[in-house]
Amino acid sequence: MSRARHPGSCTVVVGCQWGDEGKGKVVDVLAQDVDVIARYQGGANAGHTVHVGDQEFILHQIPSGVLHPEKRCLLGNGVVLDVAQFFGEFDKLTERGVEPEGRIGVSERAHVVFPFHKALDKAAEQVASSKIGTTGRGIGPAYEDKTARRGVRIGDLLLEDRRRDVVEAALERARERLEHLGADAELTGSLADSMAFLERLPAIATDVGDEIDVALRDGKRVLLEGAQGTALDVDHGTYPFVTSSNTTAGGAAVGVGIGPTAIDQVVGVVKAYTTRVGNGPLPTAFEPEMDERVRTLGAEFGATTGRPRRCGWFDSVVVRYAGRVNGLTGIAVTKLDVLDTLEEIRIATGYRLRGSVHRRFPAGVPDLDLVEPVYETLPGWGVPTTEARSLADLPANARAYLDRVEELVETPIVMVSVGTRRSQVIRAA
Ligand code: GDP
Ligand code: IMO
Ligand code: MG
Repeated sequence: MSRARHPGSCTVVVGCQWGDEGKGKVVDVLAQDVDVIARYQGGANAGHTVHVGDQEFILHQIPSGVLHPEKRCLLGNGVVLDVAQFFGEFDKLTERGVEPEGRIGVSERAHVVFPFHKALDKAAEQVASSKIGTTGRGIGPAYEDKTARRGVRIGDLLLEDRRRDVVEAALERARERLEHLGADAELTGSLADSMAFLERLPAIATDVGDEIDVALRDGKRVLLEGAQGTALDVDHGTYPFVTSSNTTAGGAAVGVGIGPTAIDQVVGVVKAYTTRVGNGPLPTAFEPEMDERVRTLGAEFGATTGRPRRCGWFDSVVVRYAGRVNGLTGIAVTKLDVLDTLEEIRIATGYRLRGSVHRRFPAGVPDLDLVEPVYETLPGWGVPTTEARSLADLPANARAYLDRVEELVETPIVMVSVGTRRSQVIRAA
């Protein structure tokens, strides 16, 4: 007998390029209409920017929905939690008048990112011959420990009689690994650093899968917030230049502890052009002059590390691939306004590889390094789109651009963002 379908709604919001697509903004807009927002993977490597009034918030570890008072915000088992970063962010939000107290929950199954994971992340990058360009937030080493079955979970830190031994053993292993990498073993930090904020954990620890299941059965609306993007997924991205989690929509069910059949909608967030921070292939990368121009127009600097993001034309091969991998039901196109002053706009419609043109996204970096994008050129629109609130308000050339994106990606556009503010949005469906 099959399980009855829940009366609630469950939407995944997922990045469709190399991260920084504007997920924070899109989640903030969609969060108005939901009851629960949950992160399902990644950690403080994320930097999700939300503008509320004239205030800017950059959320790393806490879901972007937190800026809506009274919404329940959860961090699922798929997330890796930097406890100090989490409470630092929690306290800053409180100081700024956002009240996270009593409405944030973290899965007991989520793995902990300790200070030593950050030390290991940096030490590994230093010795690597081919550097990933990580955010240095300890993400890779924490997921390594999880997969190697030696990780420490939030639930372990709740056990007062055991936690000291568990953390000490983890520190000891970390010291050995740092030495192995030729780094100073003392970079692990002290036991006290690793055990900070423990007294605050019981108040937030919860069974996230169960909470979401109950919410959906009660007819509530749930939003699952992805971090990073499809091309950074550990399986489906430009491996090894990826993050260490499944960023894609399949990771959402696994990462909060519900079944895939509980998910109704998958909204892909797509920047109107392409950016990438960190190393690895970016087939549609601009020439230096255009790169500088769009980086300035779009303020393309990392929200977590401040690094300049590399910029390029819209790549329909990547986003069409994201459509398939994530099972997208709609896309939210962001930062359309950044293109307002460009005379001409290009879209990559395919890749030329070894003499023939493909629309398939190659699996390996050697091929990705070889592909030459095939471009189509569309005229720019030359007027601001920032005040548009419906598709009809947009100039004809901007609408033509979006129509072509929709056609190439084979997924309907459900939202267009035309500025950083909450109000600067077009709900297309
Ligand atoms: P995320 O990681 O996907 O949440 O994206 P980030 O916050 O790292 O980067 C997106 C940046 O673009 C942030 O600075 C946002 O404030 C900004 N942004 C989001 N949507 C728009 C938009 O429609 N127009 C403009 N100009 N900026 C936007
Ligand atoms: P949001 O959620 C953009 C990139 C890093 C590096 C690679 C691996 O804001 O979109 P990691 O620290 O995860 O081991 O780094 O992934 N990266 C991101 N790039 N946006 C992000 O998050 C990213 N999180 C990680 O730059 O190339
Ligand atoms: Mg970001």
